[in-house]
Amino acid sequence: MFDEPGFSDDADLDPAAIMLETFVYCSRAADGVDADEVSRLVAFSQKRNVARGITGVLVFGSGVFFQWIEGPPAEVRTLIANLHGDIRHHDIVTLDQSVEVRERLYPHWDMEPVEPDDLREVLEEALESTEDEGSLAALKRILGHLESGSLSEVGRG
Ligand SMILES: Cc1cc2nc3c(=O)[nH]c(=O)nc-3n(C[C@H](O)[C@H](O)[C@H](O)COP(=O)(O)O)c2cc1C
Repeated sequence: MFDEPGFSDDADLDPAAIMLETFVYCSRAADGVDADEVSRLVAFSQKRNVARGITGVLVFGSGVFFQWIEGPPAEVRTLIANLHGDIRHHDIVTLDQSVEVRERLYPHWDMEPVEPDDLREVLEEALESTEDEGSLAALKRILGHLESGSLSEVGRG
């Protein structure tokens, strides 16, 4: 029966694959945003993200945020709009935004930590491929900022 039109027995068909929007960005924390503020932000975001089907990872250190977000497109777009209006950070540079049917890369809280050197590499690659003048300037400011200290992962989700 699975040979009939409309049915597929394709072994590659992945039941965990769903329509996901991914948003990856980096930004600089506003003055006065300290470790306590970031902890509050992480606690709030984790709760909110679970309710919205959003997963991902947030890295913070030396005044720089890096965040990977994935989830249902409508929810992710609402969050992107919120992030752009959030005064706790600025110089938001989009590193990737895309919609695909796939499995989540960060499905659980026990996801792989992001190493500081990986982050620096990502930003340096983005610097090479970015043509937008505003993003270039922001990326240079962020990379300059990274030189002043090491990064640590503080939260997931
Ligand atoms: C660096 C950074 C990362 C954030 N990450 C998230 C997040 O993952 N999820 C979330 O709901 N809000 C996050 N926020 C907070 C949002 O900008 C915003 O305050 C929140 O989505 C407002 O939600 P509400 O309008 O439903 O109250 C983040 C803020 C900053 C500065």
